[in-house]
Amino acid sequence: MKLISWIELPNLGDHRGSLVVVEANKSLPFEIKRLYYIFDSKPDTPRGFHAHHKLTQVAFCIQGKFKMVMDDGNEKQEVILDEPNKGLVIPSMVWHEMHDFSEDCIILVLADDYYNESDYIRNYDDFIKTLG
Ligand code: TYD
Repeated sequence: MKLISWIELPNLGDHRGSLVVVEANKSLPFEIKRLYYIFDSKPDTPRGFHAHHKLTQVAFCIQGKFKMVMDDGNEKQEVILDEPNKGLVIPSMVWHEMHDFSEDCIILVLADDYYNESDYIRNYDDFIKTLG
């Protein structure tokens, strides 16, 4: 499976400004059960550092920019998110880390399930062991 995949949404904007729409099961390959947003991040304080057993998410940087590190245990890649209409798919069993936030960075994350702490793998060695 490809480690980095994007969902590009059309910008329906006009002279009044930009407009981007997300529709469950249409723009995204899942029903959205939860969304959360991250802001006021500190440029030198990374976060994330976990994988999920089952959860699939899509992250949009709707303002500013940051760097996402994605690691499936075989391959590790860094990508910059800085386009509000371009979402990064975060599949299950991909270790991910968020770094280098711009001060104005706002990240919108859409998830296919409710919050469940037992779905998290927060230790890298456990992540590698779980991959088998
Ligand atoms: P955490 O997973 O540490 O954030 P990140 O992975 O972005 O670094 O989440 C911070 C806290 O918020 C933690 O106590 C769990 C809680 N939380 C929820 O209660 N519901 C949620 O949907 C999310 C994403 C986090």
